[in-house]
Amino acid sequence: MSHDSKAENSDVIRQSVGRRMQVTRRVVFCIGFVLTLSFVEAYCADEPAVSRQELAAHGWELLRTKPYLPPDFDDAVFENLWKVWEPEARDLAAKATPEERRRKTFSRYGLMPVPGDPEAKTALGYVATENGSWTMNCLACHGGKVAGRVIPGLGNSHTALQSLTEEVRLTKLSQFRSLSHLDLATLKLPLGTTHGTTNSVIFGVVLGNLRDRDMNVDRSRPAPPLTHHDLDAPPLWNVRFKQHLYADGFAPKNSRVLMQFMLLPESGPDRLREWESDFDAILAWIESLESPRWPFEIDRSLADSGRAVFNEHCASCHGTYGPGGEYPERVIPLEEIGTDPVRLRALTTEHRQWMRDGWMSHYGRDSVEVEPAGYVAPPLHGIWASAPYFHNGSVPTLWHVLRPTERPQIWKRTEDGYDQPRVGLEVQTFDNVPEDARTPWQKRGYFDTTRPAKSNTGHRFPEKLTEQQKTAVLEYLKTL
Ligand code: HEC
Ligand code: HEC
Repeated sequence: MSHDSKAENSDVIRQSVGRRMQVTRRVVFCIGFVLTLSFVEAYCADEPAVSRQELAAHGWELLRTKPYLPPDFDDAVFENLWKVWEPEARDLAAKATPEERRRKTFSRYGLMPVPGDPEAKTALGYVATENGSWTMNCLACHGGKVAGRVIPGLGNSHTALQSLTEEVRLTKLSQFRSLSHLDLATLKLPLGTTHGTTNSVIFGVVLGNLRDRDMNVDRSRPAPPLTHHDLDAPPLWNVRFKQHLYADGFAPKNSRVLMQFMLLPESGPDRLREWESDFDAILAWIESLESPRWPFEIDRSLADSGRAVFNEHCASCHGTYGPGGEYPERVIPLEEIGTDPVRLRALTTEHRQWMRDGWMSHYGRDSVEVEPAGYVAPPLHGIWASAPYFHNGSVPTLWHVLRPTERPQIWKRTEDGYDQPRVGLEVQTFDNVPEDARTPWQKRGYFDTTRPAKSNTGHRFPEKLTEQQKTAVLEYLKTL
């Protein structure tokens, strides 16, 4: 069987399994509903909108207020981080007002202010807990900003988690304070080598490996091979169009899978079961998200001609948009897509089988793809906002996605600059990482596509288009 037809078959199986799962859930829901409320037909068509909305609001509330992990650091550490910065930055911080210093600290580590809450004690992605502590959660990576506007659910393409953790550790040691789980874990595991991306997939593998299939902590399992690599967190507003999660679509969309980052050994199987309903709400919040609209002008007639080009050349993989739009959730084999292969290969068959056979997938009730062939063609809703592009975040603008031979080899973004003509990050490009980048924090500001797992190759489909067609498609992509 060719790779194509294999991928197509697995697409079909997935879609039908997904549909069956949806149907089963709806049936169970409807029976319960009929028994309790006796509103019969009107509601069996779908779940009542209000309760889903309430659940989503509860999910957001949990993400803002409930700590699931031990604290990472406290205000006394946070306020003194600048003292371990390189001399130039430290001197500027020393002269700054406390507010200005806080702003610099947020900027250095890609921490986001909480939208609509200027009084918030912590950054988005950190729950404020007792004694001024900060406890990280999903929004540290899944709350980002575009053109200076913070959007929960957008991938945080500024996060500097490795730098933050290293500098927290130094600060704690200088204050004779004890270290927490991340401070220690990063002595062995890198959290991310380029700002804006994280090694979170391998973190998930390491945490998962401490559990048997029933989620009991089992430290005797042999260590898995670890291929460290960094990914760009995808925007969560596309999750409602998907049946499967992650770049290769191997995992089912359910609330248990979302708990992978919460598998610290302190939280045993009973704790996870207790949290499951919280994660139902968090998943409802994720599925309630809508993509942000392009905030600048659009040339409507150019965009219209771009729609036709898109529908001919792109829609078979990425779906169609607007009323009646459909998303096929296709996995494109690695040989055909040609983007960086490391993410696909980094997850072992054993890891995927552990998920397939265990609690996370309801013991196989929710389908897990043990040998995915390649990467999922993602939905392109709000694609203007979720730069950089591809699963590893290697391509800074849509203009560059459309021009495979013109993608920059090394690039550095500006803090809030938005490249309107090219649609994506405003960047400076380089042939080499400049020599004045000396400290790890400075070096991590450069995205170097020559390094392992960071290649910007592949997705050469747009090469078939003429320059005019590319310009039209670019305009159309702004409307999604
Ligand atoms: C350290 C950064 C980080 C943290 C923390 C994090 N994520 Fe993610 N998340 C990622 C990255 C990177 C991916 C892409 C992984 C892949 O494709 O293999 C991802 C993927 C996802 C996806 C799949 C999206 C899709 O379109 O397939 C969901 C859903 C998700 N994360 C939810 C969560 C939730 C819920 C939490 C908190 C419990 C969380 N994440 C914590 C970085 C993070
Ligand atoms: C044969 C299937 C296929 C075709 C045709 C295709 N794409 Fe893609 N596209 C993909 C896959 C798969 C990815 C994910 C690659 C990765 O992340 O490694 C992708 C990624 C993208 C991304 C980046 C998405 C993100 O969130 O980072 C954009 C933008 C995109 N495609 C636009 C287009 C446009 C525009 C066309 C038509 C000119 C097109 N694609 C044609 C399969 C396809």
